Amino acid sequence: MMAVFLTLLQVLAVIIVSVTALLFVLKTWMQGPKFRPKSPISLAGKVVVITGANTGIGKVCAYEMAHRGGKVIMLCRNYIRGQLAAEEIRSKTSNGEMLVVECDLSSLSSVRLCVATLLTMVDHIDILLNNAGVCMLPYSITEDGIETTMAVNHFGHFLLTNLLMPLLQNTQILGLKSGNKCTARVVVVSSLIHDKGKLHLEDLNYQLSCYVPVQAYYDSKLANIMFAKELSKRLGNNSGVNVYALHPGVIATDLGRHFKEISSVLNFLSQLCYPLLKTPESGAQTSLYCCLEESLRCESGKYYSDCKVKQPDKIVENSQLAEQLWQVSERITGLSPQGTCTEIFQGVLDLEEGTDDLPLHFSQGALDTPLVYAQA
Ligand SMILES: NC(=O)c1ccc[n+]([C@@H]2O[C@H](COP(=O)([O-])OP(=O)(O)OC[C@H]3O[C@@H](n4cnc5c(N)ncnc54)[C@H](OP(=O)(O)O)[C@@H]3O)[C@@H](O)[C@H]2O)c1
Repeated sequence: MMAVFLTLLQVLAVIIVSVTALLFVLKTWMQGPKFRPKSPISLAGKVVVITGANTGIGKVCAYEMAHRGGKVIMLCRNYIRGQLAAEEIRSKTSNGEMLVVECDLSSLSSVRLCVATLLTMVDHIDILLNNAGVCMLPYSITEDGIETTMAVNHFGHFLLTNLLMPLLQNTQILGLKSGNKCTARVVVVSSLIHDKGKLHLEDLNYQLSCYVPVQAYYDSKLANIMFAKELSKRLGNNSGVNVYALHPGVIATDLGRHFKEISSVLNFLSQLCYPLLKTPESGAQTSLYCCLEESLRCESGKYYSDCKVKQPDKIVENSQLAEQLWQVSERITGLSPQGTCTEIFQGVLDLEEGTDDLPLHFSQGALDTPLVYAQA
C-alpha cells in the first residue's frame, strides 16, 4: 500500500516538474527578442513624446528614453497618474527632463489643448510614439459623438499627429541648420489582430450593426496601421518624418481592465493566462526598435513585430480604404473643412447613395468642432 502511494507521489512529482518546465519554456519563448542596438544610443537633446506613458509598455518606453538622456514628454489622460509615473522614472534614471502633459485622446478639444501646450514647450519633436489604447470597452460615445474605442485608438492619435506635424518636420530643418541630418519618427502601436478589422466607414459608430467590443478594437488597430501607411505615403520621401507601425506582442498589462465589464469568463481566462504573457519590458522592445534602431533611419510605412519587419495582412494594401479613412478622419476631427471635405469624400458618400445627410451617423457635434491647425 505504502509502495503504491510512493509511486503515485513520484508520478505526481514528475508531472508537476514537467508542467512547470513546460510553462517556463513557454513563458521564455513568449518574451520574444530584445532590442539590442549595435552601439549605445544617446538621446541627449532629443525630444520624445509618448501617449499613454503612465503604465504598461508606454511607461517602459518612457523609462528607456529617459535612461538614454532624452527629454520625455508623457501625454497622459490623468495628470496625477502621469506625474506619479514620471516621478518613479526620474528617481530611477536621474533624468530631470520628464514632463507630463494632460491629453485625453477621447476628447478632440483635449488633444488640441495638449498640442497648444506642446507648442509652448518645445520647438521640435524627434520621436512621437502613439502608444495609448483601450480595448473591449462597453459601448459609449464621446463628447464629440464618436464611439470611444475608435476615438481613443485612432481619431485622437490622428488629430494629435497631424497637429504635431510642424514640430516633427522642424526636426529636419533645425538639424540642417546645425549641419546634421535628422529625421523625426512617428511610431504607431497597432496589433497583430488588425487582420480581423473590417472598418466599415459608413458605420464607424456601430449604429447600423450590432456593437461587438472586440470588433471595435480590431477596427481601431486596423485603422492604426492604415493611418501609418497612408501618412508615410502622403509625407513622401523628403519630408524629414518617417512612420512605423508595429505589433508589440501579447503582454500582461492593464489593457484588459475592461474585460470584467464585458464577460466574467473572459476576465477569468485572461487572468489565468497572464503569467505566461510577455512582461511590459518585453512588450516594449519592438516599440523601442522602431523608435531607436539606426538601420531603420531610411524606412517608412512598414510594419514590425518582434524587432523585425513583417508583412501585414493584405487588407492593409487597400489604398482606397486607406485614403477614404484619411478623409473621414480629417472630417471627423475637424482638420478638413466640411464644404471641401464633402467633395473629397465623394467615394464614401457613394456608399450611401441618395442621402444628403451626413454619411457617417456622427452627431453634428463631431463635425462642428472648429478647424484648428497648429502653427509652427
Ligand atoms: N497588451 C497587449 O497584449 C497588446 C497587444 C497588442 C497591442 N497592444 C497595444 O499596445 C498599446 C499599449 O497598451 P498596453 O498593453 O501598455 O495597455 P495599458 O497598460 O492599458 O496602457 C494603455 C495606456 O493608454 C492610456 N489611455 C487609455 N485611454 C486613454 C485616453 N482616453 N487618453 C489618453 N490615454 C489613454 C492609459 O491611461 P490610463 O492608465 O489613465 O488608463 C494607459 O496609459 C495599446 O495601443 C494597445 O492597443 C497591446
